[in-house]
Formats: sequence, structure tokens, C-alpha cells
Amino acid sequence: MAEQQVEKMASLDVNSESTDSKDEDFVDPWNVQSSSATGVDYAKLIERFGCTAIDQVLIDRIKSVTGKDPHWFLTRGIFFSHREMHKILNLYEQKKPFYLYTGRGPSSEAMHVGHLIPFLFTKWLQETFDVPLVIQMTDDEKYLWKDITMEEVRRVALENVKDIISLGFDMEKTFIFCDFDYVGQCPEFYRTIVKIQKHVTFNQVKGIFGFGNSDSIGKIAFPAVQAAPSFSSSFPLIFNGKKDVPCLIPCAIDQDPYFRMTRDVAPRIDFQKPALMHSVFFPALQGANSKMSASEPNSSIFLTDTPKQIKDKINKYAFSGGQATVEEHREKGGNCDVDISFQYLKFFLEDDERLEKIRQDYTSGELLTGYLKKDLIAVLQKLIADIQAKRKTVTDDIAKAFMTPRKLKCDF
Ligand code: TRP
Repeated sequence: MAEQQVEKMASLDVNSESTDSKDEDFVDPWNVQSSSATGVDYAKLIERFGCTAIDQVLIDRIKSVTGKDPHWFLTRGIFFSHREMHKILNLYEQKKPFYLYTGRGPSSEAMHVGHLIPFLFTKWLQETFDVPLVIQMTDDEKYLWKDITMEEVRRVALENVKDIISLGFDMEKTFIFCDFDYVGQCPEFYRTIVKIQKHVTFNQVKGIFGFGNSDSIGKIAFPAVQAAPSFSSSFPLIFNGKKDVPCLIPCAIDQDPYFRMTRDVAPRIDFQKPALMHSVFFPALQGANSKMSASEPNSSIFLTDTPKQIKDKINKYAFSGGQATVEEHREKGGNCDVDISFQYLKFFLEDDERLEKIRQDYTSGELLTGYLKKDLIAVLQKLIADIQAKRKTVTDDIAKAFMTPRKLKCDF
């Protein structure tokens, strides 16, 4: 097992150069490791992955092109990196079409607030640019990687789909699909997958994902399945058979290896390279260097948590950047960079001015961690209550409607 891990790490292209240095972060679609209390060093990751930082120029351009205030995920560096976003803005200016693609691996029934980040941003992008959206549920990926039966992964996927719908996606412009079903419903999807598979070698996926000789052939073939929805040929009903509609993918940075492969293969099969926007990771309650896991209920706040559970977990577990005693805190101030309540507020408190005031007053020592916790509890209780209320209205029929292959309310 340990040997396999070593083999895996050593063969990863973007991570391998860092294995000689113990304090470098490790990031791939299945593992994220950082030894620093402030989490992963994203500037270094941009360099290693070869993507581009989302800078003020890009944010200003999004604002001027759309006429809308940029989402706080952009202005606060939560979506921090991109590939070819200017190309997407050029298309939008020229009134040419593009579409959005994101996804989720349905490994656990309970989604936590960190899982919401790419979806909340995708929803904002869909509303801002008024474009179609496809959401892939990789039930096959989770079946291949986890100890889970096909029946169980199917059930969990459907629960997750309902959670995602509860965030308020527009049914007329959103298609959600599970791989196991959609491959059978749409021959063009499977054809696109196999086209990709024919043009990517084992050596290439070994280099990108670190697969070894003892990995199942299912895993080795899977990256083509996640790549395929980046090409409009996978959705003939939505795009009226057009194979060249460009795609923009909002995702967490750990998914980038899949799309490096996708962008690499695209010109070889006469398809457009997808553009990307990457988000940072969402930290565990216990701190940015500890692992958040859906199977550890105390590591995050879940969509199924009650107001009391939210309150108790934050009070008990949210890592504090405050000082040991009140006197010391008043004197030295708190550290927002490691304080999890502040970090979570950065994700979920919409009011920029209030956030900035909290930052200043906590840093100066005027505010204690308890105050930040109180604010965070209120923000998350409201967010979760709203989603839970909406979730109650999402019936099996509504989920089925989102998941029916069909033409969307967008003409191509
Ligand atoms: N592999 C992703 C996960 O495990 C799911 C996924 C599929 C995805 N397609 C995607 C995520 C596109 C982001 C963008 O969660």
C-alpha cells in the first residue's frame, strides 16, 4: 500500500518535482495535503499547473462585459485561477454561444457546505451569462474508486442531485445526468468518450494521474468520461448536433488534471479546448491543514445539520486564530488567516463592508473569536435552512425532469 503510494506520487508530472521537498503541498483529484495552517500555497500551484491567476484586470472585464457586480468569490480570491477566460468573454461580447459544465462525484449522501462552492458560483455564472449548463454526476467514478455497490451509488447520486437542484438552478437551462444512465441514453456521449480514449495513451494518463500497474482498467479509462462533457458533441439534443460550441468549466483546482488532459487531446480530435475557472479548497472546521471528510461529521457543516448541530459544531470545533487568554488577545490580536470562523465568513458572508470590519476588529484584538463564531452560526443557519426548505419541494418528478435528455431553452 505504502509502496503503491510512493510509486503514485513519483510518477505524477506536476507533483513529482516537489517530492524532494517536505513542505510542498500535494494536490491531485483524490488527495490534497498541506502541512501549513494557512493551507495550500495557491500561487505555487498556479505555477506548477500552468494556469493563470484571476487578476483585477479579468475581474474588471467581467464586470464591464456583463454589467454586473462580480461575485464575492471572485473579489475575495475564492475563484483564483483560470484558463482562457478572456476567450469566453470575447465570445460573450460577440454574442456567440458557449455553455457551462460542472459535476460531482456522488460518494456520500450528505453534502457539506464546501461542496456548494463550485455550484453556487456556477449558478451565478449561469444567471450572469444566461447560458445552458450541464452537470455530470460521476456515479461510475465513485463505483470504481470507492468501496460502494452500484445500487448504493445510484441512490446517493439521486439524493445529491436533489441537493444540487435545491440551490435554485433553472430547469429550462440545466441538464443533470448520471454517467451510468446517460451512456445508454445517448450514443453520441459514448462515441465522444471512445474518441477521447483512442487519442490518449496509458503513458499520458500515468503521467497526469499517477496510475500504476495495479490500478483497475476502469480507473485508467475513466478520465475520458469526465472529459467528454467538455465537448458539445456529447449533448446533441441541447446543441442541435453542433460539435464546436465552446465550454467553460467552474471547478475546484483538484479537478484540473482531468481538464489538462482534455485540453491536450481536444485539437487532436478537432474539438475546442474548454476554458476553466478554479476555486480554492474549503477548509475543515479543525483548520486548513486537517482533512475534511464526508465520513467525519465534525469536520464540516452538512446540508442535513440542524440549527443546534451547526451551533454546537462551530462553537466546539472551529479552529481559532485567537490568543490563549483574553488579555493576550486584546494585546496581540487574532490571526484571520488561520481562524476558521473568519475563513468560513469569507466564503459565506455576502456583505463586503461587514467582513472587512470584522477583519480589522479581530486583527486589532477588539473582537474575540466568540463573536466571529456567533456571526458565522447565524449566516450558516440561514443558508442551510433556506436550502432545506427548498429541498422539501424537490420531488422525484422534478429530479427526473432535470435528468431527462432534452432540448433546453436555448437555440443553437
Ligand atoms: N470528479 C468530480 C468529483 O469527484 C466530479 C466531476 C465530474 C466534476 N465532472 C466534473 C467536477 C466537472 C467539476 C467539473 O467530485
